[in-house]
Amino acid sequence: MPDVTEPFELILFGAAGDLAHRKLFPALFNLHIDKRLNDEGRIWAVIRPERKEAACLEQIRKCLLHYGAQMSEQQWLEFSARIHFAQIDLAKKEGYGQLCKKLSKSASNRIFYCAVHSKLYPSMCEQLSSQGLISENSSIVLEKPIGNDLTSAQAINQSVSEFFSEKQIYRIDHYLGKETVQNLLALRFANSIFEHQWNQRYIDHIQITISETVGVEQRANFYEDTGAMRDMLQNHLLQLLCMTAMEAPASMEAEAVRDEKVKVLQSLKPIEGADILENVVRGQYEQGIAEGEMVARYKDEPRVNSESTTDTFVALKAEIDNWRWSGVPFYLRTGKRLAHRACEIVVQFKEVPHSIFEMQHKKTMANKIVFRLQPDEGVRLQLCEKRVGNHLQVRPMTLALQEAGNNKKRVPEAYERLLADAINLNPTLFLRKDELMTAWAWVDPILQYWNNSEQAPDAYSAGSWGPAASTLLLAKDGRLWEENG
Ligand code: BG6
Repeated sequence: MPDVTEPFELILFGAAGDLAHRKLFPALFNLHIDKRLNDEGRIWAVIRPERKEAACLEQIRKCLLHYGAQMSEQQWLEFSARIHFAQIDLAKKEGYGQLCKKLSKSASNRIFYCAVHSKLYPSMCEQLSSQGLISENSSIVLEKPIGNDLTSAQAINQSVSEFFSEKQIYRIDHYLGKETVQNLLALRFANSIFEHQWNQRYIDHIQITISETVGVEQRANFYEDTGAMRDMLQNHLLQLLCMTAMEAPASMEAEAVRDEKVKVLQSLKPIEGADILENVVRGQYEQGIAEGEMVARYKDEPRVNSESTTDTFVALKAEIDNWRWSGVPFYLRTGKRLAHRACEIVVQFKEVPHSIFEMQHKKTMANKIVFRLQPDEGVRLQLCEKRVGNHLQVRPMTLALQEAGNNKKRVPEAYERLLADAINLNPTLFLRKDELMTAWAWVDPILQYWNNSEQAPDAYSAGSWGPAASTLLLAKDGRLWEENG
């Protein structure tokens, strides 16, 4: 039985873009192969008028193969039969009329998926509405980052909400669809043993890292105005922080989950003025060796301004001012061209109050739980045990609570889950407006400070773990980043 039981029309704006090729089509293909889509579901790929349909279709096929799909000719024929094209210049009115003619008159479930720059969202909504394409059976998926700061995010949301009610708006953050993030919720809220420890009395600090080995690739047009703070921290990292820190929701209903996440964001201690220098590190990669190859510095990447001050790395120390977390630092970091590709949430517990055993590295022996989101997925719990032998010596050991590789089932990609949810109108894993605005309000002072600052981002070599200041951020608190790899 497919997850998506009803027929649907998915209208994909930005269908020839990087995100569509890399994530959206592969996810749709997997949903199709796993028979999770209704047979009547159609995908309308919106491309620019000058593009050729056949070439775009071929490009989609190549991307599926490139990004790992095991695909027979027959499977491709069946999947591609779902794809139809509409050629539109999103900045002009005319194309939308053409789209209108092509779409069915009585769609029972129409989803507009906006994988384009968010500054286009208002005019797109206006045009869709003027063509009568929006009805109570329509919804809209908005890709991040929505806006460039709080003011622009408010303006975009205001415009979109003139045409879609909040219930019809799905603000996507694909990190929420990752398997381990779901497991984090399961571990926290389906077990009683963690709850008593999950607070400032027992937890020393929490680290959340999303490190990438890739550089800016062909995305400089987007990335130059965005940078790591807007591209990753304002959304993915803060969402992971919310999932780690939130209280148990009343249920798994969308509003209950989102209520708890927004409370975490509202409790984040502002980082402003002099605190920014103390608690935030902004970096940009220089030439270096990444994955065994010499790679260019950011400023020499195609279409990057040679004077660019765009952040390709950010690390910061956040604090949550509430009863559960007061005094527990949350260290967040993300960057391009780092040493390894990894995403981990490390929950570091305090040491035992008094040790009766001989321990050489007492600090590294404290318990920790590591939630690993990628490249492989799993959860590790570090405990201490006695070393086998005559002496009572204690050593750390790791309990792997769950490794995706252990069960033969393929772990679905985040976009598969979220696309199926959006088509099925399940908003639990999507952001509500107040969450988005609270996140922007928190990062805005940092962005403004950088904007007015004469200081360039700290340099770091490609293939390293970021600027020295990032190591120092923890070192001055007597801590170290967990080495991911
Ligand atoms: C996207 C960012 O949201 O996430 C990209 O725009 C980044 O810059 C990507 O590369 C990382 O996603 P994942 O799932 O590959 O870690």
